[in-house]
Amino acid sequence: MEKRFYLETFGCQMNVVDSERIVSMLGEIGYHQVDAADQADLVLLNTCSVRDKAERKVYGHLGRFKPLKDVRPELIIGVGGCVAEQEGRKMLDEVPYLDLVFGTHNVHRLPELVQQAEEGKRRISLTGFLDRETRLNLFPQRSDLDTVTRFVTVMQGCDNFCTYCIVPHVRGREVSRPSREIIAEVEALVAQGVREVTLLGQNVNSYGNKGKGEVSFAQLVRKVAAVDGLSRLRFTTSHPKDLSDELIACFGDIENLCHQLHLPVQAGSNRILQQMNRGYTREDYLQTVEKLKKVCPDIRLSTDIIVGFPGETEEEFQLTLDLVAEVGYADAFTFLYSKRTGTAAADLEDKTGSRIKQQRFERLLELQQNNSQQIWQSDLGATLQLLVEGESKQGEGQVFGRTDWNRIVNFSGSTELIGQLVEVKITKVFRNSNLGELVN
Ligand code: 5AD
Ligand code: SF4
Repeated sequence: MEKRFYLETFGCQMNVVDSERIVSMLGEIGYHQVDAADQADLVLLNTCSVRDKAERKVYGHLGRFKPLKDVRPELIIGVGGCVAEQEGRKMLDEVPYLDLVFGTHNVHRLPELVQQAEEGKRRISLTGFLDRETRLNLFPQRSDLDTVTRFVTVMQGCDNFCTYCIVPHVRGREVSRPSREIIAEVEALVAQGVREVTLLGQNVNSYGNKGKGEVSFAQLVRKVAAVDGLSRLRFTTSHPKDLSDELIACFGDIENLCHQLHLPVQAGSNRILQQMNRGYTREDYLQTVEKLKKVCPDIRLSTDIIVGFPGETEEEFQLTLDLVAEVGYADAFTFLYSKRTGTAAADLEDKTGSRIKQQRFERLLELQQNNSQQIWQSDLGATLQLLVEGESKQGEGQVFGRTDWNRIVNFSGSTELIGQLVEVKITKVFRNSNLGELVN
């Protein structure tokens, strides 16, 4: 009988890519994916610990699977990702019905763990970091998904140690994948029908910096952009301190590089930026934005912002609001600071009450929603180019694509358009997507 697995993924694109890998590896050992846990022989959570009460949430999610296990003791339950890396064996102690815990550097060993579990060897935890060489051999490779757009991992880990951030602690040090492998992967993807690639890493701008003899990230972008048949190229995530002039120049002269950049600022006050160990000032950041707008006037920026970092004063928060108004982000992802055990900021004194923090959060949200709305509304009536990605969730006869600015547009059209660049007139603008009409 065919074996079935159910997988839930939380958090960032890194986890999405790891989950794609999990799907293909489990396929190789005879498991196929189902979308309900109660139909599965194997249930997996791929977790994230970057924000919120991550650990507690994972325990909450696991609780949902307990009744299933009570009825079917042979069911295998596993947890992977950042929470697994951080908690390790402790999770097995906390959750008596949990079978497998696999950390961020051990995703590749999941099939082996599952097979052991099938044979009755359960309650296994595999965490801890691998050495550089081993990791370089284990970069997620292209999977057999049938999609028009794909993420290609170019580096993993992070050496920045922003004081609020758990990532370096749960994903390990930076390693960059050889550029020839990346190019070969993109060429293979394009040959199988992929038209848009997003180069992925925690801090792509420092690509190649930690190893010898590798090209710079800007040079890598140029090489990838030149792959024959690639319609569009994006990359994420950028760290403002490492965004070089060489890379900024790419936005001015690479035809298929999208005019869109996610550039997390985190805060607008120099004291807070310094406390966060971000490595740039407000002035540096604004200068970078100015340079980007100069070489690429229609570029649209998005950002991440943390509200309520320990000790943030009203004046310092106001500086964040001012910066947000000045830059004019198309999108901003705003987060309430959340203490992560093991990070440097966890020891900072924090006297600001949660009500004040919540109010700040709402003020920022309101400002940004107005900014976003203004920017996206300005597209109403415009004819924009879309890369058509697939059938729309809106219903029959509808497909969707994205603009160069990474905005989803739904429109009436045939699925034969999938993979093609088309011109669409924007007829309606919603908060997170647009509606359009195909222009002949
Ligand atoms: N609290 C709140 N937000 C955080 N982020 C990272 N760590 C924390 C934390 N401890 C946010 C940052 C980062 C994004 C991925 O998550 O803004 O850019
Ligand atoms: Fe975390 Fe800072 Fe690294 Fe981003 S750059 S992953 S925020 S430590």
